[in-house]
Amino acid sequence: MGWKFRHRAKLHIAIMAFAFLIDLVLLLYIETSRHAIAHVSKSVLSAQSDTLLYFHVTVSTLTLVLYVVQISSGIKLFKGWVPTRKFHQRAAMVFVTLRLLNYATSFFIPTS
Ligand code: HEM
Repeated sequence: MGWKFRHRAKLHIAIMAFAFLIDLVLLLYIETSRHAIAHVSKSVLSAQSDTLLYFHVTVSTLTLVLYVVQISSGIKLFKGWVPTRKFHQRAAMVFVTLRLLNYATSFFIPTS
């Protein structure tokens, strides 16, 4: 949706801000219901190789970083700083790839 309306600045910003909010609420829900951070720490401490879990955690963390990057470059773009458009465009492609990888790998992470 946010991508579809990427050239209608105000609508695009509202959709992307809402998407960010939903992702934060989801993250909070996963942490409170499944103690995700404790789960990962346990896996690290037990020296058990959990490659897919680590990959998922890395991709998810980078997705959050990219949200911040996009919010910051998006604000600059909105204020009329045109040179940031190319950066915002490229970072958007990285963001979408990471978000899709985050979604795809989430199906293979054990829930307990
Ligand atoms: C992860 C979140 C986001 C993604 C993936 C994304 C992606 C994009 C893409 C692909 C474009 C079109 C660039 C072009 O071809 O010219 C665009 C435009 C734009 N984005 Fe974002 N964006 C995101 C978040 C934001 C946020 C949070 C803001 C502002 C706070 C923002 C502000 C803008 C503005 C002002 C434009 C230019 C719209 C126009 O053409 O008038 N974006 N964004």
